[in-house]
Amino acid sequence: MSLYFHDEKYKKRALEGTKKEYVDNHSVFDAFFTLIEGADMEDLTNLCKIINNFFGYKYPLTFTECYMLTQGKSISKYQMSESVKRDIFLLAYSECLMNDLPLGTKTINDGKINTSDWMGHCLWEGELAAELAFYMGLDPYRAMKMGILHDYGRKKSHDSSHITYGYEILSDKGWENEAIACLTHSFLKGGRCSWNDQPEDGFYVDDDGNPQWLSGCKKDDITIFLENYKYTEYDIILNIADLMATSKGIVSPAERIVDIATRRKAFDPRNRLYFLAELTNALMWALERIGGTVPEDMQKPVKAKKGVTLEEITKKFERASEVFFARYEEIKYPMFLKFFEGK
Ligand SMILES: [Fe+2]
Repeated sequence: MSLYFHDEKYKKRALEGTKKEYVDNHSVFDAFFTLIEGADMEDLTNLCKIINNFFGYKYPLTFTECYMLTQGKSISKYQMSESVKRDIFLLAYSECLMNDLPLGTKTINDGKINTSDWMGHCLWEGELAAELAFYMGLDPYRAMKMGILHDYGRKKSHDSSHITYGYEILSDKGWENEAIACLTHSFLKGGRCSWNDQPEDGFYVDDDGNPQWLSGCKKDDITIFLENYKYTEYDIILNIADLMATSKGIVSPAERIVDIATRRKAFDPRNRLYFLAELTNALMWALERIGGTVPEDMQKPVKAKKGVTLEEITKKFERASEVFFARYEEIKYPMFLKFFEGK
């Protein structure tokens, strides 16, 4: 699937961004409120009910007032202070996520899709990204903000254009690192392959296992961006977190891929080998950094080279998934609790 920005100015901005390091002063609470901004009442029904239980304990609130709080607006009883924001953020994580309750109850497609589920996925991704960053000695706040906002473009579209929409809207709002996460989260190591991506004509994985294009092919905007961009450790964390965060919690990468494959078209075979190989390598890279031991037979990077079979790569990937998830289970700790202190 070809991916182009909806306006040339974004392509220019994204390419300029490949040469910069952005520093931002947004808080994780800002990221959370940006995520749920504009969601309708039904999308946030459960969260509003919980807010009512929590705040209504002291002051009776109407449902509309609870909804206003989710929209970052002050109401007569509450100023939208950092502490109120923090409370709502924690309620969303602790009461909704930990109790497996979607933020909202609105469903579409005859009840098959809960429209707040993608936001739940984003919150779990933020949580997991923060945990991984923390154990890697990186900034968990930065990772969490990127996780919370990586799928922001889904507000506009659920097809692959959510990637470019997310970049455009967030970069306009000044969320630069998060905007870039929208572009990178689906593509491992800058390769133009993702789990459900249709390769374009002219795309192939070469004999050495690297993504290539036949000469003379027109590359789309995302490909050009990815070829110019150097992934940060945060981008790799997001690649992994996106493949472990469902709307109901964290699962192993292997389990999540099965989950995705059952909901969407299975991988295109031209992508699959490359994707599984690079995911295996990313998991082993991360395992070492979170204090795990990379098994001896997994120490060499896997390459989707000519002659390597899907079966061989799948086996390695399943093993990588298993050892990574086992280590994750040992160290996991609800990182959002750390934000009681606020930042
Ligand atoms: Fe995602």
